[in-house]
Amino acid sequence: MLPDSIETLLGGLSAETFLREYWQRKPLLIRQAFPGFETPLSPDELAGLALEDEIESRIVLEHGAHPWELRRGPFTEEDFRTLPERDWTLLVQSVDQFVPEVGELLKAFRFLPSWRLDDIMISYAAPGGSVGPHYDNYDVFLLQGHGRRRWKLGQMCTDGSPMLDNPDLKILSEFTTEQEWVLEPGDMLYVPPGLAHHGVAEDDCMTYSVGFRAPSHQEILVHFTDFLAQFATDQQRYGDAGMQPPADPSALDDAALDRLQAIVRQAAEDRDALAVWFGRFMTEPRYPERVQAQETEPGELESLLQQGYGLIRNPSARLAYRVEEDTLVLFASGEHCVLPASLLPRVRLLCNEDYLDAETLLGWRSEGDAWTLVEQLLSKGDLLIEEEDE
Ligand code: SIN
Ligand code: CO
Repeated sequence: MLPDSIETLLGGLSAETFLREYWQRKPLLIRQAFPGFETPLSPDELAGLALEDEIESRIVLEHGAHPWELRRGPFTEEDFRTLPERDWTLLVQSVDQFVPEVGELLKAFRFLPSWRLDDIMISYAAPGGSVGPHYDNYDVFLLQGHGRRRWKLGQMCTDGSPMLDNPDLKILSEFTTEQEWVLEPGDMLYVPPGLAHHGVAEDDCMTYSVGFRAPSHQEILVHFTDFLAQFATDQQRYGDAGMQPPADPSALDDAALDRLQAIVRQAAEDRDALAVWFGRFMTEPRYPERVQAQETEPGELESLLQQGYGLIRNPSARLAYRVEEDTLVLFASGEHCVLPASLLPRVRLLCNEDYLDAETLLGWRSEGDAWTLVEQLLSKGDLLIEEEDE
């Protein structure tokens, strides 16, 4: 089901060319990016997910209580029974975390940093269904999963682009069609941030949106300074020892500003702190309640491995690492630990593989640090013991 090469996924382009010319800049239509794609999830199964409390779902009705009405899940079977024949869309977020076959699709996107990935949202639309002309602030690959959808691409937008007066959804009030295609299962459209797009279901259809995230400058500034502030003591103060008498006691002079700038600059230039904060921030799980500490008895891991159980990476956990000279820092679901650099090959496996078999892991018993790390990740809930039927 996965494309056999990056060139198939990207319509003949290499990852380098795509990243240089298209990523964040221009849209790209790729016919049969996933050749012969068949949706691993039926519309009914998608609707089933939207009944669950812990799954984020929405329904958009073009002609609801008001134009482009947004309803939020969880929904009931009755909600689905009373929907009109056409012009509505069901959207279910983070299906990759709930359905392993959908999570598998992410393997095709390994040419991008995994910490940039947000989730796979899946929509099901009745004929005519659409979420309206809009733009997103993130990169998205729209993979057609089932049925056909007509996509129109429009102008580049900004925060100031005119919008309909809608309480819940940002729908563009102006849309200039620049390009238009009908996508069939397996076709994929890459849409860069800010580009207006409008997809309308030709028949009943499912679209998989592989979305990427990029923190806003506001988030970076707020969260990084919050992180830094934890380490500042109350005694560290603005200091003006040796200052000149002020020309005017009411004036904020340049010397005062220089002293302040030195405080801010010193904090901002702490690259190690920036790296630690960023790794923790980008690995915070979208659903922290799904990465739960688990009680494990001493010796339990070894005994389970000996019974042949492997470990899976919790699909809701996020892992990343950074190497700086001879230090290795592992980030796991919003936390970090400093490890010996010799652990790099093991850390790379833990971050990149969805599953580690018992035999491989038992081989790590003689390496104290690697074994302890696996035990810690298991107790934090970043790794899980495989289920009986997996
Ligand atoms: C959809 O699947 O209907 C909407 C996806 C998008 O526009 O980002
Ligand atoms: Co969109």
